[in-house]
Amino acid sequence: MKLLHIASLLSLVAAAQAHMEVSWPPVFRSKFNPRVPGSLIDYDMTTPLKADGSNYPCKGYNVDAGTPEGSPGVVWRAGGTYNLTVAGSATHSGGSCQASLSYDRGRTWVVVHSWIGGCPLTPTWDFTLPNDTPPGEALFAWTWFNKIGNREMYMNCGAVTIRASGYAARSPADSIYNRPAQFVANVNNGCSTLEGADVLFPKPGPDTDYDSDGTAAPVGNCGASGRRTRPSRA
Ligand SMILES: *[C@@H]1O[C@H](CO)[C@@H](O)[C@H](O)[C@H]1NC(C)=O
Repeated sequence: MKLLHIASLLSLVAAAQAHMEVSWPPVFRSKFNPRVPGSLIDYDMTTPLKADGSNYPCKGYNVDAGTPEGSPGVVWRAGGTYNLTVAGSATHSGGSCQASLSYDRGRTWVVVHSWIGGCPLTPTWDFTLPNDTPPGEALFAWTWFNKIGNREMYMNCGAVTIRASGYAARSPADSIYNRPAQFVANVNNGCSTLEGADVLFPKPGPDTDYDSDGTAAPVGNCGASGRRTRPSRA
């Protein structure tokens, strides 16, 4: 009996601290990803990256790329529209999010969509891949900067297979080769976000949704915080 009480107390504490995690597309170490064996599931997927930056990117789980448990969970066509779905209850009044791709297993990232404010107050977010997104295996990331609470960065990543669209970019600005790098802050990199506002990404890119009643630029050395990235032209 006593043990049971402790267990239920612990789960209450866990629920109170729970944040948000990606449930679609399948991400590394996620309980929502059928490729991940039970022994590898991270039941703390909802926790943010460490403040010292030691598990940026992907909570360190980008090491799974190329393994069976890290194999792509979806096939996406360049130019197609897909959804990002987030599960959990502690939305911290939302904030700003980005969807990004990496072609070098997480070393550099390119933004495909930014949401400034309101994210993730609704669970599902649509984004459209640029027409010239290169084919091959890529990593997908959801990053989130919460509006209320500790200054944190959340990041879940998974592997995706991209197929070519056969179409050119809609415009030079829309080309994946001209997209900005992922915004990185609150991970001991000299850039931080301010509490109580939705962070205004310095370079959100051409596909950006605004749904904010108060934005603030990040502070510190944020221009260089996102490592510049370009998928290499095959
Ligand atoms: C997201 O897309 C997947 C794959 O098409 C689909 O099964 C799922 O229902 C979608 N989720 C939402 C919430 O629309």
